[in-house]
Amino acid sequence: MSHSKLGVVGAGQLARMMHQAAIALAIELDVLAVSADEPAPLAGVPPRFGEATDPEALRRFSASHDVVTFDHEVVDLETALALEAEGRVLRPSAAALGVVADKSVMRRTLHDAGLPGPDFVIANDEGEVTAALGRWPQAVLKLTRGGYDGRGVFVVRSSDEAMAIAGPVFAGGGRFVIEPLLPLDAEMAVIVARRPGGESVVYDPVTTIQVDGMCSEVIAPAQVSAQHHAAATDLVARIADELDVVGLLAVELFLVGDEITINELAVRPHNTGHHTIDACVTSQFENHLRAVLDLPLGDPSLTTAHAVMVNVVGGEALRDPRDLLADALALDPGARVHLYAKEPRPGRKVGHVTICDDDLERARRRAWAVTTALDTPKEPS
Ligand SMILES: Nc1ncnc2c1ncn2[C@@H]1O[C@H](COP(=O)(O)OP(=O)(O)OP(=O)(O)O)[C@@H](O)[C@H]1O
Ligand SMILES: [Mg+2]
Repeated sequence: MSHSKLGVVGAGQLARMMHQAAIALAIELDVLAVSADEPAPLAGVPPRFGEATDPEALRRFSASHDVVTFDHEVVDLETALALEAEGRVLRPSAAALGVVADKSVMRRTLHDAGLPGPDFVIANDEGEVTAALGRWPQAVLKLTRGGYDGRGVFVVRSSDEAMAIAGPVFAGGGRFVIEPLLPLDAEMAVIVARRPGGESVVYDPVTTIQVDGMCSEVIAPAQVSAQHHAAATDLVARIADELDVVGLLAVELFLVGDEITINELAVRPHNTGHHTIDACVTSQFENHLRAVLDLPLGDPSLTTAHAVMVNVVGGEALRDPRDLLADALALDPGARVHLYAKEPRPGRKVGHVTICDDDLERARRRAWAVTTALDTPKEPS
């Protein structure tokens, strides 16, 4: 399957960074974009225009590629399944996309496979929300579809609060997964790259820090015990085999006491793997390309004692990090700065900064100093 023409559905920063990795290996790649000013086309990736939710656009796009992969999971699944039945090569598969695109399907699939996750119910109406809040007075309501960066995740502490959120969602045809609010001790993530035959490599688990439900900072390797490290690594390999994932699988994990449970899955490069560009022998983006093209996988090992990645996020002042670049770069010649050429909006991820350092606390300070200089609002307490 070498020297194939690869199509990426979606043209955001993940596609942009796939392109960056594709250049080194002379992999030919283009994207299904909605507009020419998305991050991937702005970096020179040839765009074909269309919506991933439009059956015709998906069909046309896949017809002109040997292998199709994705930078997001909001795609027309029925068409994806039909295309596979017609012999088109989708990696990850439509089935795997179907599991991650809907949190209710994801929770059910993991539960049925005997994999550890929080207790949950799927709520289709107000009565089911009331029942769930009766069971867990502090709960998390999650839209089953379309949420990201904490948008679509609501912590509620009373039935009234839950109803105020749920009413409009049900009126619009939406549904929720409801879980108890867990007393998290930490959050982790693990990424595995897996080829069609099942060969895989696993990255070191990382510690992740969320602010308002959105990933803010990633610390590699994870600051957890060797047992947790091993358990997380085993778990992600099991899930990848269970879902027969081809490409990348990223698993977000909760740590409560000694227990590791699964928060959610993604079958694409993931924010919690951005440090791998600068801190690992082979980046997650390169291994994603290698895996979906069935090429030998690269070494995922860290090349540094510690790596810290902090997201560059739009602030209230709406200052464009591109205009602040000179000052940020002057602060730290060792900082690895990545900007996605996105217009800043409050709370929008527009880049990231990675620091590799022998000393973890210094790495964190350095990463936050540069990110703050790029107008990222707040440091987590
Ligand atoms: N049951 C829970 N108990 C406690 N905290 C939770 C629970 N579920 C989610 N959270 C918190 O909310 C964050 C976001 O949740 P989740 O990962 O489901 O949302 P998302 O918007 O889909 O995220 P992503 O951007 O990673 O796709 C989690 O990382 C965690 O910090
Ligand atoms: Mg998440």
